[in-house]
Amino acid sequence: MRADEFSRRMQRESVLTTNDLMQGLFVCEGQGIVEPIAAMPGMARKSIDLTLKDCEECVRLGIPAIAIFPSIPPAQKTLDGRESWNDEGLIPRFVRALKKEFPHLGVMTDVALDPYTSHGQDGILTDSGYVLNDETIDSLVKQALAQARAGTDMLGPSDMMDGRVGRIRAALDAEGFIHTRIVAYTAKYASTFYGPYREAVGSAAGLGKANKLQYYLDPTNSDEALREAEADIAEGADMLMVKPGLPYLDILQRMKATFRRPTAVYQVSGEYAMIKAAAERGWLDEEKAMMESLTAFKRAGADCIVTYFAMAAARVLSRK
Ligand code: PBG
Repeated sequence: MRADEFSRRMQRESVLTTNDLMQGLFVCEGQGIVEPIAAMPGMARKSIDLTLKDCEECVRLGIPAIAIFPSIPPAQKTLDGRESWNDEGLIPRFVRALKKEFPHLGVMTDVALDPYTSHGQDGILTDSGYVLNDETIDSLVKQALAQARAGTDMLGPSDMMDGRVGRIRAALDAEGFIHTRIVAYTAKYASTFYGPYREAVGSAAGLGKANKLQYYLDPTNSDEALREAEADIAEGADMLMVKPGLPYLDILQRMKATFRRPTAVYQVSGEYAMIKAAAERGWLDEEKAMMESLTAFKRAGADCIVTYFAMAAARVLSRK
């Protein structure tokens, strides 16, 4: 059965399509700005006008949705990250512009304080550096509502506070945002593979040597991820997510098999960087490594793949 292309095609179990992809993008202030991200070759922070060009390309390629992340000027970063719930902030302005130009392109906005805090943590800190769960959720709810008012389609709480999905859902419903979906970062691990992202949104400097072990999942755990999924489902999550991707394929498979829910996976910045760096050195075939890694997510059970490779993969798929 493996001898010919025709019989390989006949027994193919997992097929990646453009419908599975969500493109990650970084937006910054200004006009006509492109700031390349060193550790993510091919990716850049772009001002709203140029980010919309990328969105236009996503629409042309048939990519269903994008995930947008902000690069906030250092002067706007504070201890409590209050810029995150400014209705005139970068993300709400971007969402309004996107929905005006490309109303049918889905958008997921990140609900977490780290791009907005001077210390780079996702929440409100005590003097000893502990992230306060409930106080942080109060801020996340304000951030979520500012994004919902701007017209976002999906909220992606990536902060890992306990109980935030339920509080955000209740606040959305109370204000009539019944169609605003919650893609919960259910199993988000305290991973070193987020390094390039922290450079991209400028949270690395504030974070310094600190880590997020107090609120992200311990990379050694698997049952804990299922407990997180139970909580997010009970609180009203519309989609679950596992993050990072390839190092946590076992978690993805287990979560999908256990709950049979719409499940996303996030191929994070460090995974992207590894493929790009090896390809630059001629050590890997970039296109094949990209397509193989994305197909692995389908095989493991992902319904949706958040990836910085979405546009590149969609181009490959459109050739076939
Ligand atoms: C934090 C957040 C992170 C990513 C997206 N939102 C992780 C972090 O910096 O701790 C990582 C995405 C990536 O690495 O591609 N709220």
